[in-house]
Order: sequence, then structure tokens, then C-alpha cells
Amino acid sequence: MPSYETLTVELGERSYDIHVGNGLLAEAGALIKPVIRSQRLIIVTDENVAPLYLASLETSLKAAGLTAESIVLPAGEQTKSITYFEQLIEQILAKKIDRKGTLIALGGGVIGDLTGYAASAVLRGIDFVQVPTTLLSQVDSSVGGKTGINSSHGKNLIGAFYQPRLVLADIDTLDSLPQREMLAGYAEVAKYGLIDDPEFFAWLERTGNDLCDGNKDHRRQAVVMSCKSKAKIVVEDETEQGRRALLNLGHTFGHTLEAETGFSDKLLHGEAVGLGICLAFDLSAHLGLCPQDDAERVRAHYAAVGLPTSPIEIAGVMWHTDALLDHMQSDKKVEDGKVTFILARAIGEAFVARDTDMADARLIVDNAIQQD
Ligand code: NAD
Ligand code: GLY
Repeated sequence: MPSYETLTVELGERSYDIHVGNGLLAEAGALIKPVIRSQRLIIVTDENVAPLYLASLETSLKAAGLTAESIVLPAGEQTKSITYFEQLIEQILAKKIDRKGTLIALGGGVIGDLTGYAASAVLRGIDFVQVPTTLLSQVDSSVGGKTGINSSHGKNLIGAFYQPRLVLADIDTLDSLPQREMLAGYAEVAKYGLIDDPEFFAWLERTGNDLCDGNKDHRRQAVVMSCKSKAKIVVEDETEQGRRALLNLGHTFGHTLEAETGFSDKLLHGEAVGLGICLAFDLSAHLGLCPQDDAERVRAHYAAVGLPTSPIEIAGVMWHTDALLDHMQSDKKVEDGKVTFILARAIGEAFVARDTDMADARLIVDNAIQQD
């Protein structure tokens, strides 16, 4: 009886499995061995994750007859930058990786996005495996092949679609995650219910607090459900020509708030997405697209688990509407000068809106940053 569940992202010759379970790090060597093409393995991780899980991963690889070198980078969003990308590439090349070699990303979305992008570039593309250790990376960033780094012009503006060979989500690694990071990841979990699965959202309304407080069964179920939802969308639209854009629910407002806080830990990515989702529902209700009750239900749920639901709750930030609107105009979701929003007709009925009047978006931002 396997201690994990397996989903497959069906993308033809680029298909891969996502294993979700408890104690999976101990099985990582045996699970990784069948997907690698040479013995050259390099683990990329960060300074917080390395002392917690690097040795377990190495031991597990060793038990499967594999050895890996490792590269440990500073933790945090600032590492997803051109500077660290260059450093990482140089370190990988210095370790004499070969074209059949594999990078193993052990960490959160920062390490996964950066390592995946490095894998896409080194020797014109080598394999990589995702071992996500945050809730956010287990439910979102490790799946679907969006890799990349930030630019001074905005978030994730440099990158590639590049699928991993395998994803191993060990639920037990979430035990050491700071609660604030857990909640940030939870914002993305609820996103899947809000996009197209109202029953999942209703289940989260019942279980969300337990899940965030440590209930492992609920965590595992939520990760499996989220990966299923994401995999389904990615299979339909791998390179975001249409439906995949729904996964950006909350991101137009969210990235803007993140940019204004300088991608710092004043506001975590998942927190920004949660705030952005509240604002996207506010905009939908303001435009008469979605019942006001639904917008209130979304905000009430995020507040109930302990997430911020208004930008004014973020300490030490002076928000300015003009600056926020400027960031919005430089996001990569701008097409022909038009900002794309993901709006909703109800909970579980999100859609892509490409013709939103910016005066309406301005009003929502203005209202959101008003101090009473
Ligand atoms: P992160 O990688 O910065 O991790 C958060 C913090 O938790 C870091 O300090 C990290 O060192 C620490 N950490 C990681 N695992 C831990 C563990 N098990 N125990 C204790 N500490 C641990 O942040 P994140 O929230 O995982 O990812 C955010 C990034 O993901 C953003 O850059 C965002 O743009 C990106 N993202 C990408 C996609 C995608 O599709 N590629 C989707 C969503 C988000
Ligand atoms: N996180 C958005 C996507 O993967 O498309």
C-alpha cells in the first residue's frame, strides 16, 4: 500500500507524475531514480530548508544508490533575481553537470521557480525534479512548468514554460513551515475552489482552520485536490493561451501590491494573492457581475483562517492609488495596453475579463486603501 497518492500531468512526452503523501522524502531516492537519465544530480535549496531536509533527501538518494551535490542559496523572494540566476547557473556549470543531468529543487516556490528556469537554460535544457516544501509550492508553483525570476520591472517577467520530470510533495515538510507561510499557501488553495469548484470552497470553509492548524489528512486532501485542479487546467492550456489565465485569479491586484512593497516580506506572495482575490471579487460585485454576498463570503473565509483581507492591514506600508495603478500597467498580463483581470460571476465561476474599465479598478483600489 503506497503511502502516497499519484496524479499524472498528461502532456504527451513531457508528462510527469505528482506524488503527494506523508514521509515521501524518505522514498525520494526510489521515486526519482526511474525518471533520471544520468547519475549527475544537483540539489538546489535555500538556507532555511537545507538544515531541515537536505540530509534526509541525500540519505534517501543514497539508499537508492544515487549521490547528489548541493547548492544552498539565501532564502526569500529576492533570490528570484537575475543576480542569483547568474550565480546559480555558474555554480551548476562549475559542478560539471552533463546534458542528461538533473536539478532537484528542494524548497518553496522561490527555489522551484529559479531552479526550473536554470534547468531550462543550462546546456539548452536539462531535467529537473520539484520537491516542494511549502504549502504554496505543493499546491501551485511546483506543478505546471511556469519557471522564472523577477525583474526590476515586475514579477516573473523573465522565464520559460519548462515542465519538471516529477513532483514529490511530502506533506510532513509542512510541519516546520511558519504559520504565516502556511496561510499564504492557503490563499492559493482556496483559489481553486473560487475558480471553478464551489464544493471544494465549501469544504474549505468547514475544514480550513483545522488544515491551517495542522490537520494532516485535510492538508493532504487539499494538496491532492489543488494539484488535480491545476493539472486539469495545465493539460488543457499549457502555455496560457486561454483558460490557464484563470489560475491568475487575484494576481492582477496581488502583483501590484507586491510590487509596491518591493517583493519584500512585508507582504508574502500568497498574502498578496489572497488580498488580490478579495479585490477581484469586490470588482466583480461592483460591476454587478457577482452577488455582493459572494464577495463577502470570500473575504469572511480568508479572514476566518487569519489572512489579511485589506491592504490597510499590512503594517508599515503607505499605499498610493497612482503607484498601484502604474504597477498594474506594467504587469505581463497587459495585452494591447489592456489590463487583464480574472473576475467572477459567483464563487466557482471565474472568467477572464480583458475589457475592464480602469476607472472601475481605480475605484476598487481607492476604496481598499482608505483608512477609516
Ligand atoms: P518561498 O520559496 O520564499 O518559501 C517561503 C519561506 O519558507 C522561505 O523563507 C523558505 O526558506 C521557507 N521554507 C520553505 N519550506 C519550508 C519548510 N518546510 N519549513 C520551514 N521553512 C520553509 O515562498 P513560496 O510561498 O513557497 O513561493 C513563493 C514564490 O512562488 C513566489 O516567487 C511566486 O511568484 C512563486 N509562484 C510561482 C508559481 C508558478 O506557477 N511557478 C505559482 C505560484 C507562486
Ligand atoms: N500560478 C499560475 C499558473 O501556474 O498558471
